[in-house]
Amino acid sequence: MKVLVTGGCGYIGAHTIVDLINNGFDVVSVDSNIRSTTQLLDGIEKITGKKVRNYKVDLCNLEDTNAVFHENRDIVGVIHFAALKAVGESVHEPLLYFQNNLTSLINVLKCVKEYNVPNLVFSSSCSVYGNTTALPVVEETPLAEAQSPYARTKQMGEKIIEDYSRVNDTQSILLRYFNPVGAHPSALIGELPLGKPDNLVPVITQTAIGKIPKLTVFGDDYNTKDGSCVRDYIHVMDIANAHTKALQYLIEHRNESNCEVFNLGTGNGVTVLEAIKAFEKISGVKLNYTIGPRREGDVIAIYANNTKAKEKLQWEPKIGIEDSMRTAWQWEVSLRNKVLSN
Ligand SMILES: NC(=O)c1ccc[n+]([C@@H]2O[C@H](COP(=O)([O-])OP(=O)(O)OC[C@H]3O[C@@H](n4cnc5c(N)ncnc54)[C@H](O)[C@@H]3O)[C@@H](O)[C@H]2O)c1
Repeated sequence: MKVLVTGGCGYIGAHTIVDLINNGFDVVSVDSNIRSTTQLLDGIEKITGKKVRNYKVDLCNLEDTNAVFHENRDIVGVIHFAALKAVGESVHEPLLYFQNNLTSLINVLKCVKEYNVPNLVFSSSCSVYGNTTALPVVEETPLAEAQSPYARTKQMGEKIIEDYSRVNDTQSILLRYFNPVGAHPSALIGELPLGKPDNLVPVITQTAIGKIPKLTVFGDDYNTKDGSCVRDYIHVMDIANAHTKALQYLIEHRNESNCEVFNLGTGNGVTVLEAIKAFEKISGVKLNYTIGPRREGDVIAIYANNTKAKEKLQWEPKIGIEDSMRTAWQWEVSLRNKVLSN
């Protein structure tokens, strides 16, 4: 069974491809490489022994996107990861985010409709909940005001798919990821941001290795246990496996409606300062960090109730924060060793 993965050269897409291949799926990827290179595809091949084809296509171009679907009419589903994801950047470049994230989604849906693709899995985000005070969040928690244009593209993306699913046969799942971290245990693939990273863990590992001089914690005056923001850090291979499970769930018609939503988190809230301490503990490296002002677009605290995904998808997050930090660190060290050996 063949799956079309958009954004397959990116962080979560690449880890998901590994999990899909390990579970017997064939995969093709579509990625314009606007925020990636093809490096992770080499890692996927080393891990799985399978060479994954990537179509270097901008999904905002309908004609090119259509040509990919035309060539792959035998797919059982699409997993749509491709998007821009930097919260801070989206605050300053809202149109770029609306244009890229929504146009690409609409084009994918047009092709899904034209080629009668039966199943769709969409990368959503816990940022759709906004600054909710109802913690941990369940899927029914009302969505509060989006704190950034990025988060708004995810809220709108979900609504577009819900509306689409009401009048079309495609079965869809919206997966709301909390904070994906870590890397494949082989250290052959991991998070590989182009330019300055935006997410906490690559900033931590790049600071520890010396690529970044100093890490800034955005605010320590929030109403949380140590004043820093609270997040639910979930290992990327656990997130990856949920996509395989979601697809199997749809293929086996275990879904109750045409569009279902699931939280993907561990259920544990960890502060930014606790995450830093967990990294220092497993790596033995003392991080150079300072406390800075709050960052625009950040929500204060968010963590998941993951009961629905556990019960219905039969999915279970298996990797804790320390092993997440360990694999992220092993990946960063492997990147440095690669540079040194070249
Ligand atoms: N990493 C996180 O913290 C996080 C959290 C919640 C949700 N998400 C969502 O998960 C998805 C994957 O995130 P990621 O961390 O792997 O990001 P990533 O940037 O590593 O990967 C996204 C990939 O999509 C590609 N892409 C973007 N726009 C495209 C377009 N128009 N056409 C073709 N390719 C395009 C990029 O080149 C990149 O390779 C995104 O939708 C993101 O919003 C990520």
